[in-house]
Amino acid sequence: MTHVVDEAFEASVTGRLAVIEEELVKAAVADSPFVTEAARHIINAGGKRFRPLLVILGSCFGEQVSEEDLVRAALVVELTHVASLYHDDVMDDADMRRGAPSANRRWDNSIAILVGDYLFARASTTVADLGTDYVRLQAETFARLVQGQIAETRGPSAEEDPLAHYLQVVSDKTGSLIATSAVFGGMVAGAPQEYLAALDAFGEEIGVVFQLSDDIIDITSDETGKTPGTDLREGIPTLPTLLLKASTDPADEQLKTMIASDLSSDDVLAETLEQLRAHPVIEQARAEVQRHADLALGHLAPLPEGPAKQALAKICNDLVSRSI
Ligand code: IPE
Ligand code: IPE
Ligand code: MG
Ligand code: MG
Repeated sequence: MTHVVDEAFEASVTGRLAVIEEELVKAAVADSPFVTEAARHIINAGGKRFRPLLVILGSCFGEQVSEEDLVRAALVVELTHVASLYHDDVMDDADMRRGAPSANRRWDNSIAILVGDYLFARASTTVADLGTDYVRLQAETFARLVQGQIAETRGPSAEEDPLAHYLQVVSDKTGSLIATSAVFGGMVAGAPQEYLAALDAFGEEIGVVFQLSDDIIDITSDETGKTPGTDLREGIPTLPTLLLKASTDPADEQLKTMIASDLSSDDVLAETLEQLRAHPVIEQARAEVQRHADLALGHLAPLPEGPAKQALAKICNDLVSRSI
């Protein structure tokens, strides 16, 4: 019986994701063929559609879902996300995104920035149809995301603990939009405040799990659709490198120096990645991911049992296992 219920649940999620997918491609249409092409470039390249999925799952905790609003909410979070990716790839000087050349490489930085702005404008049009509460939350979310990106770029001040600064950056740049995705889902279904608060706390924490596991994968995996070591090469702090920097073991000095050096040569980057992959900080980082995952699972407690709650727990556990 349970099995049958789950299959029906999965089919409804898949069906809704398919509708959202069609609408996303439509949302990227612009006045000129060039802008349409450039705006669809990263949307068409794929992506996990993780934020739309959270909208769908969040919507299972209310009495009555408005399908139209659900699709709108999913579009808003995914378009906001994609817009931030266009900008992020400029900031990080990335070569690839979702297995395709990033927009900054395919065209140039100016195009990537402006197309990101265009997609953000498209998200704004859609969120206007949802109403002021949604507009406010999206604006606050984007303000946090952008401030997270700025704080990451500026780095910690002399008084700040680099690891605490980093965790704040991660919450702001990634946790904020993931939390809002789950909350938007609850909102379009009229979920009670108690459930919205749980979705918010859960989303924020899995956002942290998500980004911290992404950081580990940047070092350990060759199969992300992005060039491994991109963060490392750009000197962007990640959990493993921050843990290494905090180490007082003299044996770590050589690797610390390598990480701080010029990594523009592919051979030097590969050698640094190899050493970092074999270092105990990777295991420490994984333990930290697990700790945040346990916190996230704890936030699910107020939500009623059922396939949606099971799916949220599974997502959390899968995020942990992808970085193992
Ligand atoms: C990548 O997000 C950027 C981060 C916030 C880590 P995703 O890993 O969700 O990217 P896509 O949407 O699947 O490409
Ligand atoms: C991206 O962070 C965060 C946002 C787009 C807001 P990263 O720079 O760490 O993500 P990837 O590795 O490029 O996907
Ligand atoms: Mg990046
Ligand atoms: Mg970045």
